[in-house]
Amino acid sequence: MKNYQKGKVLAEGKTKRLYRVEGEDYERLVVVESKDDITKNDDPSQTKLMVSKAKFSTATTSIVFELLRKAGIPVAYERRISDTEFLAVNCKMIMLEVVIRRYAVGSYLKRYPNLEKKEGKVPHRFHRLVFELFLKTTGGKIVMKDGEEWGETGVDLKTKRPIDDPIIANPYDDAWVLRHPKIPEWEEDSYIYRQVLKNGFLQRSVTVEKIEEIARRVFLVLEGAWAQLGFRLVDFKIELGIDKDGNLLVADVIDNDSWRLRTDDWKEISKQLFRDNFNMDEIADKYATVADLVTRFAVPKQAIVLWRGSQDDKSLELFELAGIEKIDIVSSGHKSPSACDAESGTDGHHSIFQKRYADDTQYTGAKKSGRLYAQAIFHRRTGQVAEIKINISNKEREQNRSRFFVCGGGGIRTHGPLSGSAS
Ligand SMILES: Nc1ncnc2c1ncn2[C@@H]1O[C@H](COP(=O)(O)OP(=O)(O)O)[C@@H](O)[C@H]1O
Ligand SMILES: [Mg+2]
Repeated sequence: MKNYQKGKVLAEGKTKRLYRVEGEDYERLVVVESKDDITKNDDPSQTKLMVSKAKFSTATTSIVFELLRKAGIPVAYERRISDTEFLAVNCKMIMLEVVIRRYAVGSYLKRYPNLEKKEGKVPHRFHRLVFELFLKTTGGKIVMKDGEEWGETGVDLKTKRPIDDPIIANPYDDAWVLRHPKIPEWEEDSYIYRQVLKNGFLQRSVTVEKIEEIARRVFLVLEGAWAQLGFRLVDFKIELGIDKDGNLLVADVIDNDSWRLRTDDWKEISKQLFRDNFNMDEIADKYATVADLVTRFAVPKQAIVLWRGSQDDKSLELFELAGIEKIDIVSSGHKSPSACDAESGTDGHHSIFQKRYADDTQYTGAKKSGRLYAQAIFHRRTGQVAEIKINISNKEREQNRSRFFVCGGGGIRTHGPLSGSAS
């Protein structure tokens, strides 16, 4: 069903080429073609050729975007058209690198060396995901949304090269303060004496809140997908764009260059190996492994059940979590214990633990559910978490000392304060 043609090159970057698409209904699309180049340190002189990288990248990115789309996240990706190309919505790119972190590694540790762990120790884990914005620059040039140049970031005193991808110290302010991405903010060398106005970079329909929300959702979905296969998504970088109607989409690619990905025992399998100067055969082998592993990604069918003891208890304001349904039940544990028991033992599900949250002690049974508790329902066969039930009274809600867990990807993954957003 090919009634379009690959047109002229629209843009070319370090790792891919974008082509115009000609043909009815196709003007809104571009062909994204991966190259066999692998890059590091924003330094073109360190770029190397890696056989089959374009193929691994396209295979990985296609499946990642298909998963995100299934999970309800807006993506620019349309469909894969060859080993090394996919079709995507032609976006106005937002000149930001959007970073989410589960663990403190890499440049984060350069900025916060106090979180560095002793050798052999596992990295510091953030219960609540860290969200960071970096301005996307090339050769230190700051380019605004209209393509106009705003100025330069300056020269790195150590490397003598332009500072690229400065961190935005205060993304929620109107005037963005830029800092060196690899120097602690308490050191004077971290200052970049150039402020930029947020409006110069974000289209009218885009807010930092929305960017943060989407990035967190993307991370939680991918973290869960990897966790199910026994891997740790450590952090990632994504890029967003807007379509011609102003919709915010996850664009560019998400492949083995985009994240740090580790085995359960902390062995790196992502592009970080290239930054760390591993040999090219070994790196290519890991890219092949990752491209193969993502074919096993699946969206588990999950729900969060908010269980209130009475109509008077306010319902929790829970964030939207992609692919996870919300169910509201009003049922009093101590007034009608048998109803609660029935709720906890739905067909095909098997309740294997119940937990009282405030003090983390085990709960013995649904009959005591007049109090705050949450309960995970596991599928008997697969062992996957199917539902998390949360029961909370107004008093406990106001005291805000309770925690809720969010299920995902085969296990309970995260927790955060009730008033917070997705951690
Ligand atoms: N769906 C899209 N629509 C428009 N531009 C895109 C899309 N996906 C990626 N791009 C842009 O394509 C360009 C080429 O990508 P890349 O090779 O990664 O370049 P860079 O080295 O600048 O990151 C980048 O500017 C990127 O933002
Ligand atoms: Mg890029």
